[in-house]
Amino acid sequence: LFSGRVEFLKSAPALEFLPDPTVPEIAFAGRSNVGKSSLINAFTGRRAIARTSVTPGRTQELNFFEIGDPTLFRLVDMPGYGYAKAPKDVVKKWRFLINDYLRGRTVLKRTLVLIDSRHGIKPVDHEILEMLDEAAVSYAIVLTKGDKVKASDLAKVQDKTAEAIRKRPAAYPEIFTTSSEKHLGIDDLRQFVLSSIES
Ligand code: GTP
Ligand code: MG
Repeated sequence: LFSGRVEFLKSAPALEFLPDPTVPEIAFAGRSNVGKSSLINAFTGRRAIARTSVTPGRTQELNFFEIGDPTLFRLVDMPGYGYAKAPKDVVKKWRFLINDYLRGRTVLKRTLVLIDSRHGIKPVDHEILEMLDEAAVSYAIVLTKGDKVKASDLAKVQDKTAEAIRKRPAAYPEIFTTSSEKHLGIDDLRQFVLSSIES
């Protein structure tokens, strides 16, 4: 499947530009620079289909990528949240766009909430989880940049994340650990996404 059709469909700067809700969608959400776009590249096996950057705030719109021929599902690359240096009005616009999409999208099957392995869950992440819980959107947690953390610290952040998640109302969400750089955990995530779109 992932060696087949992967295509950039469109970029939506506001809700009125969303593509028709014809197939299941999987959203990639998380703080600025956590590695959303990089994970989409690793996931699809395309080196640069989603644009990445060392500076936070790279992705500014909802970007839709189609997988399969005919299209089986779409991946949605989202702007990051919690980027303090972005202008206030821009942050506000992104927040509305992210919230409106996540709350209102009928074909949204799962949201992957990405968390940097080096930092763990922060208050701003809880805000997004809060919103997903309220809207009853199913999500999974993805710990990113696993290659940057030594194994013992990785085990610690996995435990801490599991503990933080257990306190939330959602049915126990899965936690994945990935490295887009070293291509770790990507196959497990693909399996999860495939089973999610079938359910
Ligand atoms: P915004 O679009 O700004 O919200 O950022 P993003 O979440 O899309 O992050 P992006 O994928 O652009 O990656 C940010 C930086 O982290 C880039 O310099 C990537 O190369 C780096 N990065 C992403 N994933 C990994 C990873 O698994 N390992 C390492 N070492 N670096 C990574
Ligand atoms: Mg991005």
